[in-house]
Amino acid sequence: MLRAIVLGAGAGGGYPQWNSAGAGCRRARAGDPAAKPRSQASLAVSADGERWVVVNASPDLRQQIAATPALHPRHGTLRNSPIAAVVLTGAEVDTLAGLLTMRERQPFRLFAAAPGLAVLDENPIFRALNPDFVTRGEMALDTPFAPVPGLQFEAYPVPGKLPLFAETGEDPGLAEDGEAVGLAISAGGATLHYIPGCAMMTAALSDRLRGAACVMFDGTLFTDDEMIAAGAGPKTGRRMGHMPITGEGGSLEAFEGLGVARRIYVHLNNTNPALLDDSPERAHLAAQGWDVAEDGMEITL
Ligand code: MLT
Ligand code: MN
Repeated sequence: MLRAIVLGAGAGGGYPQWNSAGAGCRRARAGDPAAKPRSQASLAVSADGERWVVVNASPDLRQQIAATPALHPRHGTLRNSPIAAVVLTGAEVDTLAGLLTMRERQPFRLFAAAPGLAVLDENPIFRALNPDFVTRGEMALDTPFAPVPGLQFEAYPVPGKLPLFAETGEDPGLAEDGEAVGLAISAGGATLHYIPGCAMMTAALSDRLRGAACVMFDGTLFTDDEMIAAGAGPKTGRRMGHMPITGEGGSLEAFEGLGVARRIYVHLNNTNPALLDDSPERAHLAAQGWDVAEDGMEITL
């Protein structure tokens, strides 16, 4: 059996974002039940309910662990944690800042593809994770491995981009060498795909996802120019490495005919109107068979 808990369903910045006075953020801040807050994207998975793997250590990880009893220390020894490993899908701030929350001499394994490992190696602040306790391992692409016994992971490259903070001005273009990866996570014959960042659908990716039982996919923006239209930033979603939900080449279109049984958007940006339970955009997604993830949502496969 595969258990997955969405620790956070928001994109970088979360929902409400600290400096956003947008309509959705104001509703979320005011406690409107149709505008549920989302912390920054992260997923916890387990095959046995005892040992958990955290996928992406978001800046909100401390609160996410506090809100998730399955991740609390158990009785027995003074210091312990069910979190046995952390796996990264990229090296954006929202995928790795939470590692700094895990610096208290607790053993765990940390896995990332080569570009993500290089970011950790180049940034000395991550030495806060004492290597006597936290061992780093490179995820070879397209190669299954077991971060904990009974749970199999396979990382595969998807079109993405350098982390925002690593850009030097020029558009670096899309990369597909492990800067962004999707994960096939399997236990007991069931597989879940987790792809919080993907700049476009490729033939290889649609072949891989065809007929899948469950895909959690990049739901950052509803429309590609949504942040520009809202006055929230100068970039399109694609320029940030996130294909939009709607429009030509958007994810709704890309998943048509793939026969994916359960489709769930994760990593939603605070400008995305589908975050609102009562929006026409949410109704549109529901009509197309897509769910929008919430913090704490649990999936069992
Ligand atoms: C992204 O995936 O583009 C991020 O959410 C950016 C960030 O961490 O701010
Ligand atoms: Mn992100």
